[in-house]
Amino acid sequence: MRPVIEVLDLDLGYTGHTVMRGLNFSVNKGDIFIVMGINGCGKSTLLKSLIGLNAPTKGKVLYSGKSFWEEDEKGKKDIMRRFGVLYQDGALWSSLTVGENVALPLQLYTKLSDQQVWEIVSLKLSLVGLEGYGDFFPGGISGGMRKRASLARAIALDPDIIFFDEPSAGLDPINARKLDDLILELRDGLGATIVVITHELASIFAIGNNSVFLDAESKTMIAAGDPKGLLAGSKDPRVIRFLTRGN
Ligand SMILES: Nc1ncnc2c1ncn2[C@@H]1O[C@H](COP(=O)(O)OP(=O)(O)OP(=O)(O)O)[C@@H](O)[C@H]1O
Ligand SMILES: [Mg+2]
Repeated sequence: MRPVIEVLDLDLGYTGHTVMRGLNFSVNKGDIFIVMGINGCGKSTLLKSLIGLNAPTKGKVLYSGKSFWEEDEKGKKDIMRRFGVLYQDGALWSSLTVGENVALPLQLYTKLSDQQVWEIVSLKLSLVGLEGYGDFFPGGISGGMRKRASLARAIALDPDIIFFDEPSAGLDPINARKLDDLILELRDGLGATIVVITHELASIFAIGNNSVFLDAESKTMIAAGDPKGLLAGSKDPRVIRFLTRGN
């Protein structure tokens, strides 16, 4: 079966500066694919090029064989319709309640009735442990709860590819663990393919089955594959240092 995502000779950057060069990797259906690397190496920049926010300076991103950045607007939209995204900063609308935030993609992209929308909202909120918080505003709940509310919004449309940018940052160990379980559930229940940017070593080893390691200094990927395999078998001191917290 063709990979869900293929990254081919990808270069990333912003006007006047290169962030990453020569990225090549594939994400298969059902993978929990981890993007690793130190702060500022370009993980979020890579994510933006995968979800359609920021065009790469070179190379291709294929979704089930279709070259995303070469598609027309309609083609891009059709591919993006498959995505659920949890942004690094949560990005909830502060003037909408938690429930309204989760309802928004359903109202925008489906023809469901109000009642159906609110049934799904309450289902998604309970899935992330926020039942009863639908009427709260984002400013009135904790940071960890906001994170989980953003997650509920990301999965509102039952996406088959879900991107998480540091989902467990700011979560306590119990909720971080719950989030790992939820990610596994999304994979097994929805059959979703999941791309996670994370520094959380416990998470990386618990849920990741595939990965890419971005190196800030050489501005390219220096490892890929199962994180457990990298820990056991990588000869690269930069990879080992990261995976063992420098020990
Ligand atoms: N909008 C932007 N315009 C210009 N440069 C940017 C922009 N966003 C990020 N950068 C630069 O690109 C590089 C990579 O940033 P990016 O946010 O992708 O890193 P990251 O790996 O996600 O870091 P972190 O772990 O801190 O989230 C940094 O040098 C950053 O300054
Ligand atoms: Mg980032």
